[in-house]
Amino acid sequence: MSRLQVRHMQFDYDQPFEPVFLRGKPEASHYFTGFSIVLHHLEPYMIRSMKQAMPLVTDDALRDNMEQFCRQEAQHFQQHKRFNDAMASKGFPDLKSLEEENRLVYKHLSETKSLKFHLAYAETFESLASAAIVHEIKNGLVDDTEGFVGDIWRWHFCEELEHRALAYDVYQHLYGDTAYRTAVGFYARTHFIKLGLRFGNYLLRADEQRILKLYGGRWQQAVRIWQILRDQAGLIPAVLGTYKPGYSPHDIVITPKMEEMTRQYTEQAIRVR
Ligand SMILES: [Fe+2]
Ligand SMILES: [Fe+2]
Repeated sequence: MSRLQVRHMQFDYDQPFEPVFLRGKPEASHYFTGFSIVLHHLEPYMIRSMKQAMPLVTDDALRDNMEQFCRQEAQHFQQHKRFNDAMASKGFPDLKSLEEENRLVYKHLSETKSLKFHLAYAETFESLASAAIVHEIKNGLVDDTEGFVGDIWRWHFCEELEHRALAYDVYQHLYGDTAYRTAVGFYARTHFIKLGLRFGNYLLRADEQRILKLYGGRWQQAVRIWQILRDQAGLIPAVLGTYKPGYSPHDIVITPKMEEMTRQYTEQAIRVR
């Protein structure tokens, strides 16, 4: 893996923005924001795990990329925090208490589980995120967005793809125990997906009247939810692929569209290190 690049971005949070940032897709949009709430504390959890692992790693290039990974994730969670704060002020008063609950969930994991568990959890998250991002970019699911919020996600996607194999490489370097990684994977996947869906469901409930008024009644909503399920069903083969013998995130194919997106965000960054 070549050296990871950390792009410092400047998004204008003073700009007015629409909480439904995926145009015409209020449910998908709020589920994305549900995961933004998770990321605010999941990413610091992975940074803590990597920092704990760093002294044990004997490969200098890998350790250097672990530092870069921590810097990238630090930029990500800080932008998600700012976005979550901006969302809270848009009529979602309980968002703050959900964030606090999420913080305690990841603090508890840090304090009660082993380093091997943390790294297997991180690898599971990173591999699912990469599979999901490849799928979303290929299908253009976050192409049609309102304002700067889409840029936060697309920039984050690029860096997630860039460091897609880092957690895997660290886990392999220190443990390489596929059976344990697979077992933790079952737990971890359910753990963060359940949190994201629960937070997304809160946003949808809080925004229910506005959604019904602006985007049509229950029938239209049912059609949109069916579309989300249909779109996300395409992810199943990629997720199952992570259980295959010989699975490696190094095998993910980076398309010209992904490379172009990354080049654009490198250009837009106010600082690259
Ligand atoms: Fe990230
Ligand atoms: Fe990541």
